[in-house]
Amino acid sequence: MKINELEIKNFRNLTQIDLKPDPGMNVIYGENAQGKTNLIEAIWMLSGMKSFRGAKDTELKAFDSDFARISASFENADRTNDVEMTVTDRRRAVLNGVALLSPSALLGKFGAVVFSPAFLSIVQNGPSERRKFIDAAVCRISPAYATVLAEYARLLRQRNSLLKDVYHESSLLDMLDILDEKLARTGEVLIRRRKAFLEQLTPFVRDIYNGLSSGRETLQMRYVTQYDEEKQPLQAYLRENRKNDLINKTTCVGPHRDDMEILIDGARARLYGSQGQQRSCALALKLGESSVIKSVTGEEPVTLLDDVMSELDTNRQDYVLNHIKNRQVFITCCEPSSVIRLNGGKRINIAGGRIVSCT
Ligand SMILES: Nc1ncnc2c1ncn2[C@@H]1O[C@H](COP(=O)(O)OP(=O)(O)OP(=O)(O)O)[C@@H](O)[C@H]1O
Ligand SMILES: [Mg+2]
Repeated sequence: MKINELEIKNFRNLTQIDLKPDPGMNVIYGENAQGKTNLIEAIWMLSGMKSFRGAKDTELKAFDSDFARISASFENADRTNDVEMTVTDRRRAVLNGVALLSPSALLGKFGAVVFSPAFLSIVQNGPSERRKFIDAAVCRISPAYATVLAEYARLLRQRNSLLKDVYHESSLLDMLDILDEKLARTGEVLIRRRKAFLEQLTPFVRDIYNGLSSGRETLQMRYVTQYDEEKQPLQAYLRENRKNDLINKTTCVGPHRDDMEILIDGARARLYGSQGQQRSCALALKLGESSVIKSVTGEEPVTLLDDVMSELDTNRQDYVLNHIKNRQVFITCCEPSSVIRLNGGKRINIAGGRIVSCT
């Protein structure tokens, strides 16, 4: 997967960008607040996903403009494609002259992975960030999973509201039985899919983390769920915990409470990891995700790395640069010397939302 040409108009502070990226390494450098992350974000938008910064579509166009446009010519295994994404109050995408029903249809056409310091939350925050990471990754490799996720969320909302109503109206208990059966069936699919993904992901992440730490540290990951599928079905487990759920008026067990445990040398990364270790972990997860995408789709996604080098020592930096050597990369930094040790590629200097030099 490679971008050959890129044009950006009125995307945040990027008024007009015209770029013929290098097929390999593209280093985007410049002072703070010049538009480096905006450039990474604009490229990311071509994947048809929402902004990785959690921005609403309306926040993406420049303050003084009523639209933003990102156009690119990119190559995947099949062919050369032209894509155009226009953002007004919402996103609209055109691929090879055909308007897409939804921008998410670009998923599977243009593949990208992004690392941003915001993803440290996967390691540092509570279980919901890790569930989100797994669910988003599974959606990418099997889009049908999104339907299962939505169905589970719908049934869970229904069950939780029923738990409140049963308090006043005990005749509703029969309905709870029916709902439990449906919720458990969907929940088991969810857990099975997540576990299967983690089995694919873990060896990649383990190797990358091992490389990042020059073989000095080991990483382990494990899906954590309270119920034991060997012992009993999820429905029986829900039944067993029903009393507690009725008291709390919410569903306290199930995949919406599950977690992924990340251990460095046997200690939980979230509690005991140093800043560099946590950053390495988050990075290994993201790079591992891109390896899974490659093994499923056969194509190396375009790799977007925002501010990845800070807090990494030179050994770790070198490992990252070496690991991503054979694909198209866009990497931002304030101080280009950390990346410029590298041969080849393009160095793109951004100031005030414009490219001031590209060599
Ligand atoms: N919708 C918008 N319209 C115009 N400007 C915007 C918009 N959204 C953000 N900006 C501006 O874009 C500027 C650059 O942001 P960006 O995050 O790309 O900086 P950066 O070069 O990555 O800086 P840093 O090195 O600090 O990460 C910010 O100063 C911000 O004010
Ligand atoms: Mg930035």
